[in-house]
Amino acid sequence: MRIIAIANQKGGCGKTTTAINLSASLAKRNRTVLLIDMDPQGHSTLGYNVRLEEIGLSIYHVLKEGISLDNIVLNTGVANVRLAPSNIILSTIEQDIAGVPEKEKRLHHAIAMSKRNYDYILIDCPPNLGLLSINALRAAGEVIIPLDASFFSLHGLGKLLETIEVLNRRSGHKVETYILPTMYNRRSRFAREIIEEVKSHFKGVIFSTPIRMCTKLRESVSFGCPVSEYETNSIGHWDYSAVADEVLLQEDPSMETRPIAVLSSSISKVPETDIESGYTDSGFIFIYKNPKATEVKIAGDFNNWVPDKGVNTVRDEDGTWKKIIKISPGAYQYKFYIDGEWMEDPGNPNLVDNKMGSYNSLIVID
Ligand SMILES: Nc1ncnc2c1ncn2[C@@H]1O[C@H](COP(=O)(O)OP(=O)(O)OP(=O)(O)O)[C@@H](O)[C@H]1O
Ligand SMILES: [Mg+2]
Repeated sequence: MRIIAIANQKGGCGKTTTAINLSASLAKRNRTVLLIDMDPQGHSTLGYNVRLEEIGLSIYHVLKEGISLDNIVLNTGVANVRLAPSNIILSTIEQDIAGVPEKEKRLHHAIAMSKRNYDYILIDCPPNLGLLSINALRAAGEVIIPLDASFFSLHGLGKLLETIEVLNRRSGHKVETYILPTMYNRRSRFAREIIEEVKSHFKGVIFSTPIRMCTKLRESVSFGCPVSEYETNSIGHWDYSAVADEVLLQEDPSMETRPIAVLSSSISKVPETDIESGYTDSGFIFIYKNPKATEVKIAGDFNNWVPDKGVNTVRDEDGTWKKIIKISPGAYQYKFYIDGEWMEDPGNPNLVDNKMGSYNSLIVID
């Protein structure tokens, strides 16, 4: 069982969006997931369509009264995802357990006592480093830090990493740290610079799939479901699917985690095009923009790596190449073949080591 806290004291950086959509994407990959809402705002709870006023027992009762986690867990509309809900009552917990011994380990004990087994427990933290976040970090073996590209994020990151390090040192309990760039705008040089800055200071792993801005992610919450249940043909769905794949890759220690340097090089090659790859009525369109290229082909798992087999090509006047292919849902590795040279898709930051000294692009289509 992997226990992953999703934490950042900065508000609105995508913690809950990550908790909801990563839990659903992991569940789609046949993992059982418990999402624990540790935020009195109850946004993960709402995001799974549970009405806050209808909650009886919640994570508050687990932390305050020692009620079993198993007694508060609810089913969600998504198979394999269960939810430990929260609501505003949780905001008084700090005072309510002020004198309790080992108050920082209440969640850890509750998880240890649970009789249910999950492949993953994700913990959505509130936007502060108070007792609730500390409980989450003490219970977790890993922490994902969603980081939106802003000056304030960078400023807060140092404090968060320092807190995690102090906790690690004080408790002897090591938490692995991952950074997930969120609300990423690949056309923004500032966003790329923020990632560069993080890369130069942060020694841990940065996910190679930044979560891009996507209105469908915003909309799906108001429908009380993850984006996978709302709009699969969306950037938000693809990005969180790819992040779930990266999380699964980390399950197998023999598969190396991709170094940060690859992330930055893939971002710096991002083409300046206004169109994204995606589904249309004629099939899936891969986009590559390069006015100087005279021949652009595509090959991958979908056409047995035979360049342009089964592919319709459209070249726009501005040098945008569209490669249109009928493909069914699944995960596909692929590359472009440009004027005689193989190249990863510069518009897709999701790469996998092809064990032949380079990387293939990876796309997951549901
Ligand atoms: N990739 C994205 N594209 C567009 N909107 C996004 C994206 N990620 C998050 N949002 C939106 O940004 C807002 C804040 O996101 P979210 O609630 O996930 O942040 P948070 O870190 O959990 O906030 P808090 O600190 O209040 O708990 C929400 O309205 C959400 O729908
Ligand atoms: Mg939140």
